[in-house]
Amino acid sequence: MNNPVKLGQSDLYVNPIGLGTNAVGGHNIYPNLDEEQGKDVVRQAIKSGVNFIDTAFIYGPKRSEELVGEVVKESGKREELIIATKAAHRTVNGKTTLDNSPTFLKESVDSALKRLQTDYIDLFYIHFPDENTPKAEAVGALKELKDQGKVRSIGVSNFSIKQLEDANQDGYVDVLQSEYNLLKRQAESDLLPYTAENNISFVPYFPLASGLLTGKYSEGATFNDLRADNPLFQGELFKENLQKINKLRAVAESKNEEVAHVVLAWYLTRDSIDSIIPGAKNIDQVKNNLKTLDIELTQSEIDRINQIFR
Ligand SMILES: NC(=O)c1ccc[n+]([C@@H]2O[C@H](COP(=O)([O-])OP(=O)(O)OC[C@H]3O[C@@H](n4cnc5c(N)ncnc54)[C@H](OP(=O)(O)O)[C@@H]3O)[C@@H](O)[C@H]2O)c1
Repeated sequence: MNNPVKLGQSDLYVNPIGLGTNAVGGHNIYPNLDEEQGKDVVRQAIKSGVNFIDTAFIYGPKRSEELVGEVVKESGKREELIIATKAAHRTVNGKTTLDNSPTFLKESVDSALKRLQTDYIDLFYIHFPDENTPKAEAVGALKELKDQGKVRSIGVSNFSIKQLEDANQDGYVDVLQSEYNLLKRQAESDLLPYTAENNISFVPYFPLASGLLTGKYSEGATFNDLRADNPLFQGELFKENLQKINKLRAVAESKNEEVAHVVLAWYLTRDSIDSIIPGAKNIDQVKNNLKTLDIELTQSEIDRINQIFR
């Protein structure tokens, strides 16, 4: 795989196509996940040269980190991999809240290190903002962990522009992870300009809109997972989305490419998007998404896609 790119101001290099692992042991997100299949997804990614693996405490919870940790260990390639994880969810007496306090973040890093069977985390994100902790204080705790070598770079996720500005007031944030795809482009109005100006890598999540932007779903599709409540998959909006995707299919077919690859390649043309982390449920999807690296979009194709989804 070619052209590794630097994550923010860190000295970490990632390949442009990574792997999202919320379907690897993410039993609380997708029902009936097969853990062996999930491990095979991670094995295939590593075998194919993917070096950027994204997990989180809350996927499972805990189980995704554990399975990723097992496969990374068995691969013998820990030093070649950039492992990203996240925390903020705290459960007390069955009630889950968000916590960005320095104490909780430090405990979270220590427990993630155990589940991942490693002694450093390449990229640690605050998964969601809480209501109380000043954001610079939360990031300051991660900077301390970075100075101790437990964390190699600092990320925040699901932060508003104001929260991001506060979090980055000392310039410590390397990566912002936020929802962004061709069907949800709000980040273009504030977050993407800020990350581009401040040398922060923007990692879009739901890049395939949970599978919708692969072009494989049609009217009448039903879901029993997180998509059952996602407005993009409901009613008139679902129909409009399918119409846009059909227009996109014409662009893809004119290049003899698949819709998913054109979509993923389009993100890589955006300022400050250095790497994409599509999720996968099986090894074929992992292999398939890597074909993105073989295609190049012309400026008129980039503009056309922009216009279809404007
Ligand atoms: N920071 C956050 O709060 C946050 C939130 C969400 C996700 N994330 C991260 O972002 C990653 C990406 O998001 P995501 O996995 O939820 O959604 P996604 O990347 O938009 O979509 C992934 C889904 O699309 C389908 N798919 C993937 N490749 C395909 C292919 N080549 N052909 C056909 N179908 C394909 C699979 O589902 P089906 O086969 O079932 O269609 C797969 O589970 C996650 O894994 C996670 O690491 C972070």
